[in-house]
Amino acid sequence: MRVEKAKIADVPQIHKLVNYFASQGQMLARPLSEIYENLRDFFVVREGDELVACVALHICWHDLVEIKSLAVAEEQQDAGLGTELVQECIEEAKGLGVPTVFCLTYQPAFFEQFGFNRIGLMELPRKIWGECQRCPKYPDCDETAMILQLKPSATVQW
Ligand SMILES: CC(C)(COP(=O)(O)OP(=O)(O)OC[C@H]1O[C@@H](n2cnc3c(N)ncnc32)[C@H](O)[C@@H]1OP(=O)(O)O)[C@@H](O)C(=O)NCCC(=O)NCCS
Repeated sequence: MRVEKAKIADVPQIHKLVNYFASQGQMLARPLSEIYENLRDFFVVREGDELVACVALHICWHDLVEIKSLAVAEEQQDAGLGTELVQECIEEAKGLGVPTVFCLTYQPAFFEQFGFNRIGLMELPRKIWGECQRCPKYPDCDETAMILQLKPSATVQW
């Protein structure tokens, strides 16, 4: 099993995996339309014809990208797939030249392993809130906001 860019045929399985965990309150649900529109953001791991893990790296602004929709099928957890997917996103962010990666998560301890630090939600720029306004929990977000500075010396301009 290896991390690969998503293909159009993966969309129904990405939708199923993400919304399975969303139904358990572990992450936000994503409609099919949003997955299609943002499919080029996604990395996946497949086992044969079965999609077993996914993540998306979304460009928000010139200095900011978001890791989202990270999900590993229950039977494949604790085998390093989540780590591989996050590392792939971090490498892509570095390649893009974007200095800051953020995530909103219910699993802050997992992201701390990669150097993400907890920040106040209000410290994130308002330009990311367009999507938040579509969230059923808005404005009472109960996720933890975290950032990873890839260029510690960079001036964050938001
Ligand atoms: C959180 C999740 C992505 C982790 O993926 P995974 O493939 O099981 O994780 P890995 O096997 O790469 O774990 C690597 C390390 O992180 C640890 N870890 C895994 N999940 C963790 C968590 N929720 N909190 C803290 N540490 C965690 C593992 O114990 C392991 O530690 P070790 O190297 O010391 O053994 C996965 O459990 C998942 O999909 N959960 C449901 C959906 C979800 O919560 N997604 C995140 C939304 S932002």
